[in-house]
Formats: sequence, C-alpha cells, structure tokens
Amino acid sequence: MFRQPRDVPVYRTDIYTRAAILDPYPHYRALRGLGSVVWLPRHRLYALPRYAECKATLRDDDRFLSGHGVAANPVTNRLSRGTTLSSDGADHERRRKLVAHRLMPRALRTLGDDVDDRACATVERAVRRGTVDAVADLAAALTLAVVPDLIGWPHGRRDRLLDWAAATFDILGPANRQALLATPRSMEMLRFARRVVRDRDVLPGSMAHELLAAVDRGDLAEQEVPALLIDYIAPSLDTTISAISSAIHLFATHPQQWRQLAEDPALMPNAVNEVVRFESPLRAFTRKTLHDMVIDGVQIPAGARVLVMYASANRDEREWTNPATFDIGNDAGRHVGFGNGAHACAGQGLARLETTAILSALLRFVDRIEIAAPPMWAVNNIIRRHAHLPVRLVSASAR
Ligand code: HEM
Repeated sequence: MFRQPRDVPVYRTDIYTRAAILDPYPHYRALRGLGSVVWLPRHRLYALPRYAECKATLRDDDRFLSGHGVAANPVTNRLSRGTTLSSDGADHERRRKLVAHRLMPRALRTLGDDVDDRACATVERAVRRGTVDAVADLAAALTLAVVPDLIGWPHGRRDRLLDWAAATFDILGPANRQALLATPRSMEMLRFARRVVRDRDVLPGSMAHELLAAVDRGDLAEQEVPALLIDYIAPSLDTTISAISSAIHLFATHPQQWRQLAEDPALMPNAVNEVVRFESPLRAFTRKTLHDMVIDGVQIPAGARVLVMYASANRDEREWTNPATFDIGNDAGRHVGFGNGAHACAGQGLARLETTAILSALLRFVDRIEIAAPPMWAVNNIIRRHAHLPVRLVSASAR
C-alpha cells in the first residue's frame, strides 16, 4: 500500500503533463529549490533535481541499479530487460563490450570523413532551398543518413524508424497516456528487429553483422540480438536530432555566439557541450535502490525508484554560474547530458561527430541563421526536441 515518505519535500505538480513537457524549466527550478531529494507522489519517485546528487547516483551503479529498468513505470521496466541500458555489473559490461568499441574514438576516426561529406551535402542542399525545416532537412536528414547504415538496419522500414524510436523513449516515462499511446509502435519496432535477426537481414560489415557473427561463434545467444539492435538504434536518432536542432535554434537566437564560433572554431567541442547542457536532449531516467539509503539526510528505502534528472542537473544554480544563459564560452564539459559513470552514453562520440559536422558545414556555407516561423516542440516523456524548426539560411553569397 502506498505511503507518503516522511521528512521529504513533496512536489505535487505532474512534471509529465503536456504543458510541463513543453516548458519544463520552471518545474526543474522549483524542484531544485525544494531540496536535493523531492518526492513526486503521482509517480512514486524520489526526484534528484540537483547536479551533485545526480552525478553521485550515476557513479554509484553498485547501489543504484539499472538492471530492473530505468523507466518510470513497471511495465516498460519488465519489457526492457536484456538491454545494455537496463543491466548491471558483469552482465552490463559484457553487453557493452559487444558493440561499443565500434563507437570508440579510433573507430569513429574512419567514419569522420564520411559524416563530414554527408553533412556538407545536406547543408548545401538546404542552402540552395534557403528556408528549410532544421529538424527534417538538417538534423534528421544527417542522422538517418549515418546511423542506420552503421548499425546495419535493413533498408526496409527505415521510414518508420523515427516514429518507432521516439515511441521507445516515450514508454520510458511514467504510465501516462503518452506512454500508453506509444506502446504499440515500440512493440512494432521490437517485432521488426526480431524478424531482421531471424532472416539475418542486416547490412554486411555493420554492427548487427558483427553481433550475428558472435552468435555463430557461440559467444552470444540469438535471442539477445534484437534487444541489442534496439539498444543502439533507438537512442541514436532522437537524441542527436535534438542536439543538432537545438544547436541551430540556439545559434539562430544568439547570433553573437554564432559569430564567436565562426571567428574561433576551436570553440566547437565546447559549443556542442554547451548545447547538450543548455537543452539536454534526455530529461531523466530512473534507478532502483539496492539498500536503504540516505541522500543529503533523506531516507530512501530499498527497492525505491530515484529519478535522475539530467536536464535539471545541467541547469543547477549550485553548479553553474548563469545556468539559464547559453554561452559557448562556458566550461560546459562536466554536464551530465550524456549521463556519467558505467552507463554514460556509449554513442556520445558519434553524437558529437554528427553535431560538429553539421555546425562546421553551416559555418562554411552560412553567414546567418534566422528563425523563419515559430518553432514547435515535440511532446515526449523523455526526449526534449523540436518537432519543426523553420529556419532561413543566409549564405555569404546571398547578401
Ligand atoms: C546528443 C545525443 C545523445 C544524448 C544526449 C545521449 C544521452 C544518453 C544518456 C544520458 C545516457 C545514459 C543513460 C543512463 O544513465 O542510464 C545514454 C546511454 C546510452 N546511449 Fe546515448 N545519447 C546520445 C546519443 C547516442 C547515440 C548516437 C547512440 C548510439 C549510436 C547512443 C547510444 C547509447 C547507449 C547504447 C546507451 C546505454 C549505455 C549503457 O547503458 O551502458 N546514444 N545516452
């Protein structure tokens, strides 16, 4: 039977309503103001809205477990067993080692030129049109040109990938209407991945191909492969699309920052970090407590769910000077937008590569980015990203 914990500040407002999803920052500020640990009665979660506790929790994966799922609802937590994201200890390490090496810096170096070429072609096409949707025509166009081939996803049903991947994030939120509506699409993705594995319908030389070779050697069970494929394809699209479109939005609305980047391209790695800090693509995941714990004086029982709020941590006034200001000169490298500790994002090198490639191509071909019509944010329990971002790309030659 549900009991409200004692001596914990409580936040009764639902942070997963449509309105809160579209405008989350006032809620994050209110939560941080209440304390390091805040009880969300509606979702029965102990929220961690501040930076220090988020980071410490992510680094303490022996006691804050992912193996029981990282969603905010029990159904998805049961379904997501067997993924890298939702596993612990040696099991997690084994899964991560199977493919993560393909996303390490050395492997990415060979991919770099190809991503740069594709980014240039994407931007050149967009510049010729002048006014484009930065989500569909830049961010999604590049990610879809790079990631499915790398993973080895067959050419069939790529048209559904974005929708499926967004749904797979949505169901990681609480059991609200949003998650409920997304469930059939996420299941469809799993069924398709199972068929891909059964038919061995993967691209030669790809990550998926390597996984099937491991099955043939007896190093991996075939039934583990669909979850591993989804493990990589699902988080690789919306997240990076978010970072690229947020970057374009932020540089359009902060033209002096764009000029600063043009004058000093060495600021690029920090600019990408600042985008991920300022508009963190991933809002929050959960962990399950192994023992009774105390966080900043608050008792948390064994088996409870804590909500690690990456996006709020990255705006914590205790950690950042002027956190609500976008400034590529900020020392943003220590953000937790890619997580931290054992489960830190396995694809962050690729995400950085893609975001850098688009911004570099824009710097090369575009003088100014202007907002052409009000942007629209997508509604998703987990991902913060634009659905549409109409922009005008003003090139040097067009002046
Ligand atoms: C800007 C883009 C991205 C952001 C902001 C992001 C964010 C994150 C975060 C916060 C986590 C940690 C989850 C946790 O704490 O439980 C994570 C994990 C993960 N990400 Fe990313 N991600 C991005 C891009 C990608 C890409 C491109 C890929 C794959 C190609 C990817 C694959 C993964 C995987 C496999 C994990 C699970 C790692 C593990 O549990 O060991 N991500 N990501």
